[in-house]
Amino acid sequence: MTASCAPRQAPPARPESPPFPWCCVGMLLAALVLPLPIFSVRCIDPPVLDSMKLKGVIKRHYYPGDRIDYECYRGYFYVWPYLLSATCEPNGSWSRIEEACLRKSCPDPQVKHGKVVAPNDTFEWESEAHISCDEGYFLRGKPIIICNLIGENVSWSDTIPHCEKIYCGQPPKIKHGKHTNSYRNIFEYNELITYSCDPSNGPDEYSLVGQNKLICIEPNKWSSDPPLCKVVKCQRPFLEHGIMVSGSRDKFSYQSVVVFECLQGFYLNGSNLVFCGGNDTWEPEMPTCIKVSSCLYFTKNSLNSYNLHSFIIFSNKKRKNIFTAI
Ligand SMILES: *[C@@H]1O[C@H](CO)[C@@H](O)[C@H](O)[C@H]1NC(C)=O
Ligand SMILES: *[C@@H]1O[C@H](CO)[C@@H](O)[C@H](O)[C@H]1NC(C)=O
Ligand SMILES: *[C@@H]1O[C@H](CO)[C@@H](O)[C@H](O)[C@H]1NC(C)=O
Ligand SMILES: *[C@@H]1O[C@H](CO)[C@@H](O)[C@H](O)[C@H]1NC(C)=O
Repeated sequence: MTASCAPRQAPPARPESPPFPWCCVGMLLAALVLPLPIFSVRCIDPPVLDSMKLKGVIKRHYYPGDRIDYECYRGYFYVWPYLLSATCEPNGSWSRIEEACLRKSCPDPQVKHGKVVAPNDTFEWESEAHISCDEGYFLRGKPIIICNLIGENVSWSDTIPHCEKIYCGQPPKIKHGKHTNSYRNIFEYNELITYSCDPSNGPDEYSLVGQNKLICIEPNKWSSDPPLCKVVKCQRPFLEHGIMVSGSRDKFSYQSVVVFECLQGFYLNGSNLVFCGGNDTWEPEMPTCIKVSSCLYFTKNSLNSYNLHSFIIFSNKKRKNIFTAI
């Protein structure tokens, strides 16, 4: 027997042996007398795995004793002690092989004074991290970052944001007024300041129009605009066919309230109560007294929807008045 005709391994199981060499006849005959099943034992379809792929060229079939080797897919790493290979068993099946690689993960984002949520339950590549800050802090950076796979490495899509304490600068100064803690330049989150108006030297006092309390709610942002300190004067209200039933006085200053009623034979359209607003006008707008239409009951033509509506909104008292007026 020469080296040229000696098969490298398992000669009986190799059907695609090199061209028939006459020198091997004896050996071939010997092989033929062996039990037949041995010839047909082959392993096919190497196991397919999610995290790893076969190394090298895949063959159509393998023989008992053959070993196949796997490697992790890109973006995965090998986890000891699992195997990265499988062997063709004498009965034609592959030895047991399990997933041996895991997806690479980005580092846990650490955010002081904040919260990190993993909606995908992991920080493996293609997962997101959602970041928010504790109360009193604000986020600098992106609230959502994604773990990306670039080449063989993973990294967050953006720098990890951080949470900074909320501060407000001085609230606005106002004319004819002041606010508490005005000597300070920096205010913390949720701190409250109160405005008040100065006494006036004239005949009319300043009124504080707007919010007198402001709270630091966001970086350099107060809960509202500051109030105004101004003299507010409303003209004596006059209601045609009506009377002022309460609130009458000499001067009508900020938020003075007056209440009206209409004379007999008239009904009120609008609010019976108005107050003197910050713009020296009555709010809501002045009501009017409208003459009760006597045609309501006698003229068919006037019984339109408008009159019907007016009729319905009359109070019992007014309805009585209408009847006396008629
Ligand atoms: C083949 O043999 C192995 C042990 O060598 C055994 O675990 C497996 O179950 C066998 N497979 C079949 C299909 O008989
Ligand atoms: C992660 O979650 C986001 C939103 O919940 C989803 O759009 C995305 O497909 C998820 N990614 C993975 C890898 O599951
Ligand atoms: C009642 O007042 C409203 C609002 O001012 C006005 O639009 C409406 O025309 C008035 N109704 C009558 C009957 O004058
Ligand atoms: C008062 O006047 C100011 C400026 O003219 C205006 O912006 C504001 O809306 C007015 N307020 C009312 C209640 O009419």
